[in-house]
Amino acid sequence: MKLEIACIPGDGIGPEIVAQANKVLDQVAKKFGHEIERKEILMGGASIDVHGVPLTDEAIATAKAADAVLMGSIGGDTNTSPWYKLPPEKRPEAGLLKIRKALNLFANLRPAYLYPELAGACPLKEEISRAGFDMLIMRELTGGLYFGERHTTTENGVRKAVDTLTYTEEEIRRIAIKAFDVARKRKGKVTSVDKANVLDSSRLWRSVVEEVAKDYPDVELSHMLVDNCAMQLVKDPAQFDVILTENMFGDILSDEASMVTGSIGMLSSASLNDTKFGLYEPSHGSAPDIAGKDLANPIATVLSAAMMLRYTFDLDKEAEAVEEAVRKVLAEGYRTGDIMSEGCTLVGCSKMGDLLAERI
Ligand code: NAD
Ligand code: IPM
Ligand code: MN
Repeated sequence: MKLEIACIPGDGIGPEIVAQANKVLDQVAKKFGHEIERKEILMGGASIDVHGVPLTDEAIATAKAADAVLMGSIGGDTNTSPWYKLPPEKRPEAGLLKIRKALNLFANLRPAYLYPELAGACPLKEEISRAGFDMLIMRELTGGLYFGERHTTTENGVRKAVDTLTYTEEEIRRIAIKAFDVARKRKGKVTSVDKANVLDSSRLWRSVVEEVAKDYPDVELSHMLVDNCAMQLVKDPAQFDVILTENMFGDILSDEASMVTGSIGMLSSASLNDTKFGLYEPSHGSAPDIAGKDLANPIATVLSAAMMLRYTFDLDKEAEAVEEAVRKVLAEGYRTGDIMSEGCTLVGCSKMGDLLAERI
């Protein structure tokens, strides 16, 4: 099979981690007899430095023409990078939001699984980490606060900033359907997370999710307020199967869920629309504090590439081979710094990529 993949190395650790995912994919192609054709896309700061904007129309066209996009991460240190002196629509993050919207990638799947080997890296109490957990956050990705109207004004010398949170029932319905479909193939449980005790958008969210649930009598639905969910994630993460939530809540809760797996460097993601196309990227950022030092954990990106093999290309055996390689390397005791524990072997980003590729 020929896999046409557009690659966005991005900024910070992005190029380092994408290089490791590509090593692993090349090995998969060799072993299973596929051909990979790659096109590189500049996005974020890397595009600003060359084109003056975080994403060009040509870059979007290249992404659309590919079967899938593999992305590292974009952005710089928001306190010090000159990119953050630019107007908001010209900053790195605007490129990411633009590509998500342009490709209609409304469904962001973020699986958080605690590998038994990483129980020692989980910051929770031992009885919780020993029980383990395996959840998937289904985050709505093209609506809500991220895409609502916003402006800053000054009235009578007082500055005022406004961000609006809007959802239509159709936007809620399509992400809910994705969550129920996924839950059916997992443990059959959806926890819909909202703030229905305060927000109108959440009250609509709850009622549309209830409507969708009628078509899935085999899936158990419950609702949870977002503040409680933040607490439950550290109290008893094993209670969750699929967490369905809106854009901003999903952003925050997925970082929290990532840390209980040991590190944000473990959390992969797939951003999907209603076709086979997908954009695959780790859930973490460009980690400017460790960029260029060969310290980053590439596993989230490698597991995102596995999601690409599964969701875009229907190559389940190949995806399993990648996931199995991750399991083996962890079982053999190799760790990057973020998941290091006593008695394990510390390796850098590039070495971790080599080890994973060797085990395909
Ligand atoms: P971050 O996720 O980049 O980093 C948070 C912490 O986690 C840092 O200490 C970092 O070193 C660590 N970390 C992240 N990924 C790691 C990995 N693979 N291995 C080991 N450690 C890792 O979040 P931040 O510092 O808030 O943001 C930095 C920049 O990244 C900002 O410009 C932000 O906008 C951007 N960002 C981009 C994306 C994306 O491209 N999807 C996601 C989140 C943040
Ligand atoms: C993520 C990131 C992005 C988001 C930023 C960089 C715009 O934090 O992918 O989780 O908030 O969606
Ligand atoms: Mn985030």
